[in-house]
Amino acid sequence: MSFKVRIAQADRTIDVPTGATILATALDAGIGYPFGCQSGNCGACKSHLVKGEVTMEGYSEFALSDEEKARGLILACRAVPWEDGEVAWLEEDDLVVHPRRLLDCTVVGLEDATHDIKRIRLAIVSGGPFDFSAGQFASVTFEGCPPRDYSMANVPGDPVLEFHVRQTAGGATSMHVATKLKIGDHVRVEGPFGPSYLREGHRGPIIAVAGGSGMAPLKSIVERALQKALPQHIYFYFGVRTERDLYLHDHFAALAKTHDNLHFIPVLSEGDGSNLRNGLVHEAVAADFDEFDGCKAYLAGPPVMVEAATKLFEQRGMRRADIHADAFYTAAEMATAGKKTGAEL
Ligand SMILES: Cc1cc2nc3c(=O)[nH]c(=O)nc-3n(C[C@H](O)[C@H](O)[C@H](O)COP(=O)(O)OP(=O)(O)OC[C@H]3O[C@@H](n4cnc5c(N)ncnc54)[C@H](O)[C@@H]3O)c2cc1C
Ligand code: FES
Repeated sequence: MSFKVRIAQADRTIDVPTGATILATALDAGIGYPFGCQSGNCGACKSHLVKGEVTMEGYSEFALSDEEKARGLILACRAVPWEDGEVAWLEEDDLVVHPRRLLDCTVVGLEDATHDIKRIRLAIVSGGPFDFSAGQFASVTFEGCPPRDYSMANVPGDPVLEFHVRQTAGGATSMHVATKLKIGDHVRVEGPFGPSYLREGHRGPIIAVAGGSGMAPLKSIVERALQKALPQHIYFYFGVRTERDLYLHDHFAALAKTHDNLHFIPVLSEGDGSNLRNGLVHEAVAADFDEFDGCKAYLAGPPVMVEAATKLFEQRGMRRADIHADAFYTAAEMATAGKKTGAEL
């Protein structure tokens, strides 16, 4: 048995088998539906449910808020129809869809960014070119490890890809990277994914907030904005625990000296007597801004930080559409906490 679902922009109707998602069926049918993680985490497949009923499988609140759900939005990658219907993916002025690539890469650079973050450089051996937008991520498979999502830290167009991987205690991939990865190892990279990329046409102030290895996508976003000579002010907050967790501090401090519009603000949550700002990173943003008129926010890092910053921006009147957030959920967190299940809808 199947249900007929019309995809508005493609002007096609697909037969979605019982229990299958709209996105999976549309992609199988060769329709260029926008998508990212395919697991209800990124929001790239967000769509209007024009007609019909669907059951939503588990998803993250960052991908689809309650308010959006109440407005009739769904995530096509989690939407299982139970009657005929119609959907239309969200049109964004500057929506980008890059071809999805499967790259074979080799580790050409490996260094300790901090005591628990590795900075990795990968040369693309085959499968390129790899087009992406600053801020996007890829599914990365190190030899013998399960695939995990990591954000590109380099600017688009660089011949070498850069990733920052933070150790998670007991983590299958990050502990492999911390203890076993070496120059010359083979790595597979699939992507790009994710809707939290730099909107290059936007001219309002940029508020970039990174926590820990959330530095990676925001490094890409901030460097891309400077490379494109975007004229607006860029406030780059980097939240870490203590001074030993800071990295690329000199790099961004130097960039801020040569670019009047860049303001780099490291914030330590466990102040240790240094001259840097102390407190939680979203509290530092809250202290600096009364309102966020015309701003866009880019957030990446631990879910708890992304959640607190998102709340702050929303409370101070920022539209959800102007908040571009990547919460670094682990695979286990994705499977349990932080995701809503169909039963809760
Ligand atoms: C969009 C996105 C972008 C990301 N970008 C980055 C990035 O740029 N840099 C970065 O460092 N990270 C990033 N992450 C996080 C990254 O994908 C991994 O989740 C992280 O590196 C941990 O992976 P792991 O394999 O080491 O740990 P996992 O093996 O996934 O384990 C994670 C934790 O869960 C525990 N665990 C494992 N299985 C279970 C279980 N069944 N029940 C309960 N607990 C369990 C483990 O002990 C461990 O503490 C990103 C995540 C997302 C979603
Ligand atoms: S592709 Fe649907 S939420 Fe990421």
